Amino acid sequence: MKVLVLGGDGYLGWPTALHLSQVGHEVAVVDNFARRGYDFEMGVDSLVPIESLQTRAAVWQELTGQSIGVYIGDLCDAEFTYRTVRDFAPDAIVHYAEQRAAPYSMVDRKHAVYTQTNNVVGNLNVLYAIAEINPEIHLVKLGTMGEYGTPNIDIEEGWLEVEHKGRKDRVMFPKRPGSFYHLSKVHDSHNIEFACRIWGLRATDLNQGVVYGQQTPETAMDDRLATRFDYDAVFGTVLNRFVIQAVLGKPLTIYGTGGQTRGFIEVRDTVRCIQLACENPADRGEFRVFNQITEFMSLRQVADTIVSASTSRTLGSRRRTTTTTSCTLVSSSLGSSRICCRTP
Ligand SMILES: NC(=O)c1ccc[n+]([C@@H]2O[C@H](COP(=O)([O-])OP(=O)(O)OC[C@H]3O[C@@H](n4cnc5c(N)ncnc54)[C@H](O)[C@@H]3O)[C@@H](O)[C@H]2O)c1
Repeated sequence: MKVLVLGGDGYLGWPTALHLSQVGHEVAVVDNFARRGYDFEMGVDSLVPIESLQTRAAVWQELTGQSIGVYIGDLCDAEFTYRTVRDFAPDAIVHYAEQRAAPYSMVDRKHAVYTQTNNVVGNLNVLYAIAEINPEIHLVKLGTMGEYGTPNIDIEEGWLEVEHKGRKDRVMFPKRPGSFYHLSKVHDSHNIEFACRIWGLRATDLNQGVVYGQQTPETAMDDRLATRFDYDAVFGTVLNRFVIQAVLGKPLTIYGTGGQTRGFIEVRDTVRCIQLACENPADRGEFRVFNQITEFMSLRQVADTIVSASTSRTLGSRRRTTTTTSCTLVSSSLGSSRICCRTP
């Protein structure tokens, strides 16, 4: 089948494009390089160097003989979005192309407005392009578990059966996220559900946990196919930051009690989930929601896991030295605690 991957230059979009191409699908990617722009703006960069999108696509073709089409442009530009969907004529669109950092969206008014405009308008343009060009196209949209927030009731998959004053209904699960970024994804989910209901579109909303891992079998084929590894305070996930702190022998910084529990999923599972969703489309008019998590862990458990891995692994493959760290849990009077790892 033909799959268009929006945000194909990003952390998840690129390995997804490679995986879908590897299993035999015809793939094209779309990106406006906004993510590379945020790096310049914030003075940060991926730890693992990444090649230009054009070089990555050329290397893939050189190694496998498979081509990945590249469309460069902004989804907020409706003409570009329509032109791309018409030209590639996909069976499925995988939509990763959003500003995805909660801290970035909370910097100030400008960053909040940018995040919501970019994400909500881009997604709306995609919905309109599908509705007007080919409503058979299956939209696979990346949501996040963060959309739900941390309610005091079990989180369902998108929908909730409610009985109120003697009458029953099935409503979208009430969401109470913790950032303007997460709210933009909630708005997207509502817009997609509405488009399925009124235009009969078919969509799958995948609420994935925090994704970790930096390699898939395809990216491991050549250094030039690598995807990003972000460890800074804005784009790095807590897990990536802990890994870097452990490798450097620095204290692992846990904010709060460390009891905050989050869902996690490995990048190789992410790309396989996307493949499954594409190959098994939602029905016309169906807004399908899946929560995708491999395991739940508290921040303290994440830190403990990384600390025990860092004490038993050989670090620094070039120098082939073993760094052992001794770790203790330190609680401060302010209620924050840190796991301190010291290299002897
Ligand atoms: N990384 C995670 O842990 C995680 C977890 C759950 C869900 N998600 C979701 O998956 C998606 C991708 O995440 P990621 O970590 O790969 O992010 P990323 O920032 O690495 O990739 C997103 C890509 O989209 C592009 N983009 C952004 N706005 C665009 C626009 N208007 N037009 C064209 N391209 C645009 C960026 O340049 C970037 O290359 C996001 O929507 C995110 O919410 C990510």
